[in-house]
Amino acid sequence: MPVAEQAAGLFSHTDAPVRILDLGSGTGILGAVVAGQSARGSSVTAIEKDPDLIAYSEDSLQQVCDDVRVINASVFDVWLDAEFDRAILNPPYKKIKPMVIGTASGGVKVTNLYTAFLVIAIQALADGGECVAIVPRSWMNGEYFKDFRKWLLAECSLDAVAVYGSRQEHFKDMDILQEIMLLKVSKRPQVDTVTIYDDASPTTPLSEQHADSMPLASLLLGRDHMLRIRQQDDRLIDFKPLCERGLWVSTGKLVWFRNRDILSDTDTPGGYPLYWMDNQDGLVTEHPVQCERPQWTTEEAANRNIVLPAGSYCFVGRFSAKEQLRRIHASYLGSEVPFVVDNKLNYIHRGTSRTTVPLDDAVARGLTLWLSTSIVDEWYRQISGSTQVNATDLRQLPCPEQRQLAALADLLPIDGHMDQMRVDQTVGRMFSWVETS
Ligand SMILES: C[S@@+](CC[C@H](N)C(=O)[O-])C[C@H]1O[C@@H](n2cnc3c(N)ncnc32)[C@H](O)[C@@H]1O
Repeated sequence: MPVAEQAAGLFSHTDAPVRILDLGSGTGILGAVVAGQSARGSSVTAIEKDPDLIAYSEDSLQQVCDDVRVINASVFDVWLDAEFDRAILNPPYKKIKPMVIGTASGGVKVTNLYTAFLVIAIQALADGGECVAIVPRSWMNGEYFKDFRKWLLAECSLDAVAVYGSRQEHFKDMDILQEIMLLKVSKRPQVDTVTIYDDASPTTPLSEQHADSMPLASLLLGRDHMLRIRQQDDRLIDFKPLCERGLWVSTGKLVWFRNRDILSDTDTPGGYPLYWMDNQDGLVTEHPVQCERPQWTTEEAANRNIVLPAGSYCFVGRFSAKEQLRRIHASYLGSEVPFVVDNKLNYIHRGTSRTTVPLDDAVARGLTLWLSTSIVDEWYRQISGSTQVNATDLRQLPCPEQRQLAALADLLPIDGHMDQMRVDQTVGRMFSWVETS
């Protein structure tokens, strides 16, 4: 398994024996590769919940190490002292009900099994100990993982990340809509620069692949410490985050399966137009459209706190297909009547998390163009490896001032046709990234 070798290869070389921990050891492959490259006298402790896999773990570990302990238990039920020099893991990925794990520096809230495993592994490290994990990239952005991120960065040094590009053949069977990465952290003060492989391939040794070394501070974004995997494009440096431009991103308020009784295929008296991702058409939002989803709600929507005021907005779909070229699909809406938005759409306005205030019409159109540029989509990919587009992440997106957005709207009309080159050139000319011809 080349990924196992790449993961083990991230540990620092030492001639001294090391105490190795393998959490969720399965067949023991990861522990075995680490033990195989470690000095004589090293030991491995492996923990695996599945009793059917214990013999496999023992067998593979004993082939490369004389001091092996395989524990058949859940990692949550084993007390580990902070004595390990190396921790390696490829934990299960599964959303869990948020739980707090007690640590030496206080409790940390975790929302996924893999971050729970990481907290346990890092807690078990001795001073100077190193942990390498094969995990999804989702912990690096979004609201969901912010407590974990803050804890991790306070607790240890972020040494290296290797993100496997989303289109890697290697992971295609895993059926996860996330990029996978190797994460290396260590229990010591933060190293000066983090080593980043932003488009790693599992088939070539990492030492032969391109890496950047960047100070941690240059990778952190916003109060929630989101982590990007590339330095900010110079062209975006002067743009403040969208949430500091008097703009706000909210998520549509209609959860359809809780409001089935008010969905309607026809426009009934007092009813409201209903917008789904299906209504996005190029740079505009159409209504009604031919699709399987009802295009209206009944007047009862007014009693459910889901109706938005008439006016101009920019919509951004919350989901994109893996194979789609762009992550961000923005579309303009100018509505003369109040309306309802499905919760698979984000909508941008100039209110707050509690109140929705429509945008100035030209700002809505200019913002749609801005969000449709290649440079913005590229920015988004740097901070998110997922096909989902979160409101929290969008609020951090570099954004021109509202007056600049309004000026942009005058340069290019928007319609159902999205001409990427034209959008990029128009925006590029306005900000002098491309020469005016
Ligand atoms: C993705 S597999 C990785 C196995 C192996 N380390 C590898 O890389 O091939 C995750 C492993 O964690 C084990 N596991 C899941 N939940 C566990 C828990 N609470 N405690 C210990 N092991 C667990 C599973 O049985 C599985 O073997």
